[in-house]
Amino acid sequence: MTNILIDPETKLNTTPTNQSLHARRLAATPRGAPAQADFFARRARNAELWDVEGRRYIDFGGGVGVLNTGHAHPRITAAVQAQVEAFSHTCYSVVPYESYVGLAERLNALAPIGGEKKTAFFTTGAEAVENAIKVARAHTGRAATIAFTGGFHGRTLLGMGLTGKMHPYKVGFGPFPGDIFHVPFPSHGVSAAESLQSIEQLFRTVVEPSRVAAVIVEPVQGEGGFNVAPPALMQGLRSLCDRHGIVLVADEVQAGFGRTGRWFATEHSGVEPDLITVAKSLAGGYPLSGLIGKAAIMDAAEPGGLGGTYAGSPVAIAAAHAVLDVIADEQLLARADALGGRLVSRLEALRGEVPAIADVRGQGSMVAVEFGVPGEGPRAFDPALARRVQSLAWQKGLILLMCGPGPSAIRFLYPLTIEDRVFDEALDILAGCIREAA
Ligand SMILES: Cc1ncc(COP(=O)(O)O)c(C=O)c1O
Repeated sequence: MTNILIDPETKLNTTPTNQSLHARRLAATPRGAPAQADFFARRARNAELWDVEGRRYIDFGGGVGVLNTGHAHPRITAAVQAQVEAFSHTCYSVVPYESYVGLAERLNALAPIGGEKKTAFFTTGAEAVENAIKVARAHTGRAATIAFTGGFHGRTLLGMGLTGKMHPYKVGFGPFPGDIFHVPFPSHGVSAAESLQSIEQLFRTVVEPSRVAAVIVEPVQGEGGFNVAPPALMQGLRSLCDRHGIVLVADEVQAGFGRTGRWFATEHSGVEPDLITVAKSLAGGYPLSGLIGKAAIMDAAEPGGLGGTYAGSPVAIAAAHAVLDVIADEQLLARADALGGRLVSRLEALRGEVPAIADVRGQGSMVAVEFGVPGEGPRAFDPALARRVQSLAWQKGLILLMCGPGPSAIRFLYPLTIEDRVFDEALDILAGCIREAA
């Protein structure tokens, strides 16, 4: 049974079909760049997407956390259209534009970092991460970086090196840049104290702290399973970094811009990082990333050391201004908490019926449900069950993404602008899929 509806605005029997496009995709593109769906998008609005054959899906993946403000929000589309009419590219480092400066000013004002701040823009999350490490190195004159197991920081060589998960991101792509050390992230039975002790042990046995430029941490791990960094970890990292003159980098590429019920997920811990990487929902579907940080650190890079041909594209910057307006005007931070609360209650209620629900966790609307073998402890993951839930949901018109070790968890990245009616419909589909799959 499926509840997939036919889009009245899309003519039926259109060509090409999903099947024919799928065959062309397999022939023309490499298997290393796959797609999860076997259908192809035609149009999307807010939390709904229609494929080329007119089938409708509720999008709880948001293009992997990019669409906190939904597909094609009219205010964002209008801002982009106006910018395209004005100009679409100058290369900021050749001819600057005010909107870039204005967005930096807005993010400097919003970021949970004390004192004078500066922001530079790039295109992808991985680039923001790369530049965070570059800036930390320039500031400290040191080389090494500490990262966490389960962390994900992108697909560039340095991003892969920092990423603490082998398959599928790193397999066959080494060697990675040197001087990167991983310690366990506090989740699945590892405490914040143990995590911090691992860093102290690193200092004693592998790398002296005076060689470490940066510690990079996701305040809520994304790909790693929506594991929330305990405040004790963030506080411990802050004092360790202060003690040794190390730059603390919060990678908020997935957790930022309202997802957790705050502008920045780091705000939950009360800890101020030195640098914050942002991307994804910052520009609502247009490619933009940024690095926000203490002015003294950000200014360490030589003129021309930061940037890129498309870095801070005026089109994406225009979108980001509209995104910030929409988050504020539509009160999406409160909405993230409200929607996340409804989702968590629904999942918690299901736990009585489905003992294979091992954990429901998250912050605001950055929520995941993890599946495991009942009674076998926090590391007895059940990725097969998670996969069954996901594939049933896709069949019934609900796009879900997985994450975490295994991957054994389903993560939820719906637009915070989703209509109540659509949200409730999705929760009903989800509950049905979990019951059926378990
Ligand atoms: C925390 C985090 N950092 C960095 C990245 C890389 O971003 P991008 O795919 O835009 O390069 C991601 C992407 O998922 C991410 O979740």
